Amino acid sequence: MTRIRSIVRGVGSYLPQRVLTNDELAKTVDTSDEWIQQRVGIKERHIAAEGEFTSDLAVAAARAALDNAGLTPDDIDLIIVATTTPDYTFPAAATLVQMKLGMRHGFAFDLQAVCSGFVYAVTTADSHIKNGLARRVLVIGAETFTRLLDWTDRTTCVLFGDGAGAMILEGVELAEDEPERGILASALRSDGQHWDKLYVDGGPSSTGTAGHVHMQGPEVFRHAVGKITDVVYATLEKSGYTVADLDWFVPHQANKRIIDGAGAKLGLPTEKVVTTVDIHANTSAASVPLALSVAVADGRIKPGDLVMLEAMGGGFTWGASLIRW
Ligand SMILES: CC(C)(COP(=O)(O)OP(=O)(O)OC[C@H]1O[C@@H](n2cnc3c(N)ncnc32)[C@H](O)[C@@H]1OP(=O)(O)O)[C@@H](O)C(=O)NCCC(=O)NCCS
Repeated sequence: MTRIRSIVRGVGSYLPQRVLTNDELAKTVDTSDEWIQQRVGIKERHIAAEGEFTSDLAVAAARAALDNAGLTPDDIDLIIVATTTPDYTFPAAATLVQMKLGMRHGFAFDLQAVCSGFVYAVTTADSHIKNGLARRVLVIGAETFTRLLDWTDRTTCVLFGDGAGAMILEGVELAEDEPERGILASALRSDGQHWDKLYVDGGPSSTGTAGHVHMQGPEVFRHAVGKITDVVYATLEKSGYTVADLDWFVPHQANKRIIDGAGAKLGLPTEKVVTTVDIHANTSAASVPLALSVAVADGRIKPGDLVMLEAMGGGFTWGASLIRW
């Protein structure tokens, strides 16, 4: 009996040119490089240029992933863009990406799970592949998240950045005696009772404006480590692997202390944890594929490695996905 599995064909990313350092931020809001680095582990973040939209970031990351995979847009059947900051209320940023890539076939949609968006999108792509709805899926996490910030609110504006990352998943048939590879298991969770612990106070149906980010930071922190580790264990249990089998842990990049806390609770050596929050800040749905791209490009993540992706964000939503690279 053959098994269809979603394997990773390529990854890519894009960061806007403009870098905003903590010291620069401290000139406009009452904060300091020392406070931000100590509490969150962020040194700098990238900011999209005026007129540069989420779909532009997404297209740049998509092109990099296509190059990495040796594919063209003709080879893609489905585009999923995980984003909280689409160019327009509608159409989906994914259809704009489809247009900008010159793709006239297949289908495209956006997925909204805030910072968990990329893990949700990878899992959704995997289901579409296994159900025969698509063979090659371009999964993108792209955000111009800084456009949701109130730049006078020091409790939120220091935490976020802009960027995009992409991954191409392809359905392959494994022969009976072939070892498992690609996406091995995933687990997704949400709990809407926490919606107002991290949310944006606007939207088309409520205020007719985009709104600004509000967060009960210590409350989010309190939930984060437990929820992250629970979903990682659930994913491992489904796959039959243990923490000791993992080669790489690629968590959502929101806060170095949350990443360290989750790594320590799982019993993972720090050298197996991919951390880019220092240079990217929290780029919401883009954070996991951006971190992945860095670790693939610098040669850490190699074919055959066992890689755990994890994210948690507004909603709350959280999830994990285990991949044999
Ligand atoms: C946001 C976060 C860094 C705040 O750190 P914290 O240690 O919990 O700090 P608190 O919110 O309790 O604030 C402590 C003090 O620092 C101050 N402070 C907050 N932001 C500050 C900043 N940017 N610069 C300087 N001081 C700041 C507060 O006003 C408070 O001052 P006070 O004691 O005089 O009232 C932390 O709660 C966090 O990381 N939470 C999770 C956030 C997250 O990951 N969100 C995304 C999930 S997808």
